[in-house]
Amino acid sequence: MTDTPTGGDVRLAGISKTYGSFTAVHPLDLTVPEGSFFALLGASGCGKTTTLRMIAGLEEPTTGAVLLGDRDVTDLPPHKRPVNTVFQSYALFPHLDVHENVAFGLRRRGVKSVKRQVDEMLDLVQLGDKARHRPHQLSGGQQQRVAVARALINHPRVLLLDEPLGALDLKLRRQMQLELKRIQTEVGITFVHVTHDQEEAMTMADTVAVMNAGRVEQLGPPAALYDNPRTTFVANFLGTSNLVEGRVTSAGAEVAVTAGGAALTLPADRCAAPARAGGALLVGVRPEKIALTHADDAATVPAGRNRLTGRIADTSFIGVSTQYTVDGPAGTGLQVYEQNIERDPRLVPGAEVVLHWNPAHTFGLDAAQDAEAGVETVEGAA
Ligand SMILES: Nc1ncnc2c1ncn2[C@@H]1O[C@H](COP(=O)(O)OP(=O)(O)O)[C@@H](O)[C@H]1O
Ligand SMILES: [Mg+2]
Repeated sequence: MTDTPTGGDVRLAGISKTYGSFTAVHPLDLTVPEGSFFALLGASGCGKTTTLRMIAGLEEPTTGAVLLGDRDVTDLPPHKRPVNTVFQSYALFPHLDVHENVAFGLRRRGVKSVKRQVDEMLDLVQLGDKARHRPHQLSGGQQQRVAVARALINHPRVLLLDEPLGALDLKLRRQMQLELKRIQTEVGITFVHVTHDQEEAMTMADTVAVMNAGRVEQLGPPAALYDNPRTTFVANFLGTSNLVEGRVTSAGAEVAVTAGGAALTLPADRCAAPARAGGALLVGVRPEKIALTHADDAATVPAGRNRLTGRIADTSFIGVSTQYTVDGPAGTGLQVYEQNIERDPRLVPGAEVVLHWNPAHTFGLDAAQDAEAGVETVEGAA
């Protein structure tokens, strides 16, 4: 490769893809930093695979350019691009053993002595003892690691992974998430990982781009996206959010809002939409930020907290936490997650409660959006 030293990152400059009158990917500008673990996250059909295939050269962009480092590769065929792709289906050669599957890329390039490199790769993915096994003798997770080793042995600048863990069951998927993260840290190559699973994206990636209907809605480190969603889609797709409609009563460094008769405040710098007195705002708070106090003890709630009242509609005990659904004047179906440390036995369905939280944990979104965006798509995505 003849890239400059800044190479290795992926830059997409205005790339788009249309099929007839349908736009799968709207013009997109995106920079993937060198050596990062980058996730493209979104529901099924939002354009993730199309974007990845344009980077790989498997799909021709309708507009725009793909740059690897400073090199424009838009017109290069896939095999001339310094990238490799790992697919969900693994696509291993069934008649070749693990060693030969991994050696494939080297042999095709005419490399004679492959043993050392293959052994190194098998050590990297911890399959040194499986070199002579055929793919059908391996578990799904092991096959996936062979696919990763087979791609990495070509020393791509960028490894593209399209839902690589989709075929694995949940427990194995969790293990492989950590495993892939370890491999990426060890080799230091840029990984672009496509997934519809928000937990997977947050666990693995340093940067997540949330895609919705062919557009990147928000991009950033997982914690920043989670704490400061800018759209209802991101707020709902990445974890769970409580969004209640409020009316702004005053706007300064602190924004004051009324919602269902309750007075709430939030920091102005956590508002994704301009807050003007008299205007509408969607007030958001994550379920785990909220504490629940029985209405009989309402006087014990410290001053300065945001508070809403309601009645418990449902509870579910899930071991580490209990999840409460609360209906109140500000909204129905509010979600509250309480760690199971000291459970108040009065917090059962029908109980009147106060929900309260630190105002700093509140965010504000443009009320013109659909408050439910991204809610159902999570379930439909799998
Ligand atoms: N070859 C094609 N012809 C027509 N439509 C396509 C083609 N490939 C993908 N699409 C459409 O483009 C959209 C995005 O597809 P895709 O990138 O595969 O989504 P994702 O990977 O996020 O599930 C989908 O609506 C899909 O049906
Ligand atoms: Mg896809």
